[in-house]
Amino acid sequence: MAGRLEGKIAHITGGGSGLGDAMAHLFAREGARVVVSDLKLDVAQAVADSVAAEGGDAIALAGDVSSREQCETLVADTVSKMGGIDVLVNSAGVTPRYAPPEWDFEQTWDWVVSINLKGSMMMSRFAVAEMKKQNSGSIVNLASIIGLVGYAQGISDGFNPYPHTKGGIVQMTRDMSVALAKEGIRVNSLCPGFTYTPLVTTLVEDADMHERLKSLHPMGRLGEPQEIANAALFLASDEASFITGVNLPVDGGYTAQ
Ligand SMILES: NC(=O)c1ccc[n+]([C@@H]2O[C@H](COP(=O)([O-])OP(=O)(O)OC[C@H]3O[C@@H](n4cnc5c(N)ncnc54)[C@H](O)[C@@H]3O)[C@@H](O)[C@H]2O)c1
Repeated sequence: MAGRLEGKIAHITGGGSGLGDAMAHLFAREGARVVVSDLKLDVAQAVADSVAAEGGDAIALAGDVSSREQCETLVADTVSKMGGIDVLVNSAGVTPRYAPPEWDFEQTWDWVVSINLKGSMMMSRFAVAEMKKQNSGSIVNLASIIGLVGYAQGISDGFNPYPHTKGGIVQMTRDMSVALAKEGIRVNSLCPGFTYTPLVTTLVEDADMHERLKSLHPMGRLGEPQEIANAALFLASDEASFITGVNLPVDGGYTAQ
């Protein structure tokens, strides 16, 4: 039976960890040829090697999505090494929890915006230029529940750049989807609830916070990376051929409350 991404070339930024890692494995199992990119080559290479060890087709690239030049090179290398780009997943992302403690609020805000929001825009811009040539493509952005609603009380002071960027991604997704619909390019986002990846390690290491986060999700638990990857696969694939401009919660009911 043909895989659900048979013959597609998929570039996953932030593919060296967490959700990107899970998506790289799943997409390859479904027949995609996968480009795993990340800030550092070694983490991207480890995931590409693990995909290859399962019999999948993957290469690794290093690139910082907050750099315009490096985004352009990431897309150009995808096209030159693989022959095109059918799917772009913008999974590279950071949280201010991991910003250097000596930074002030403005430096931290600019850093998170430059990666989460501007990086997704720049990667999309260069990928779209290629997708237009083939009149088809699917972009899957990683927004968040926190792009749809504010943080639960007591978690943020309102100046946390993370929800600001995720809300921006939600609106960028809608706007790009309308502009690109006639070009055969679909643009959607996933809005995951809290999911077990290195991004949330410091939160779930705090037992009280872990229990609070679980209780905020009606299902009473956090998500698993595979559950987010399953939704990404659907949006990336031709099964979602009439779906564009959607910001899909994958959140155990978090945003339904
Ligand atoms: N885990 C969650 O609970 C959750 C929930 C909602 C949304 N998200 C979003 O999903 C995406 C993936 O998150 P994750 O949980 O897998 O996190 P993660 O920290 O496990 O992985 C993120 C990856 O992005 C890479 N990265 C960071 N800065 C980069 C840069 N400048 N250029 C290229 N790569 C860079 C990191 O090296 C890392 O490998 C992020 O956008 C995140 O905001 C995560």
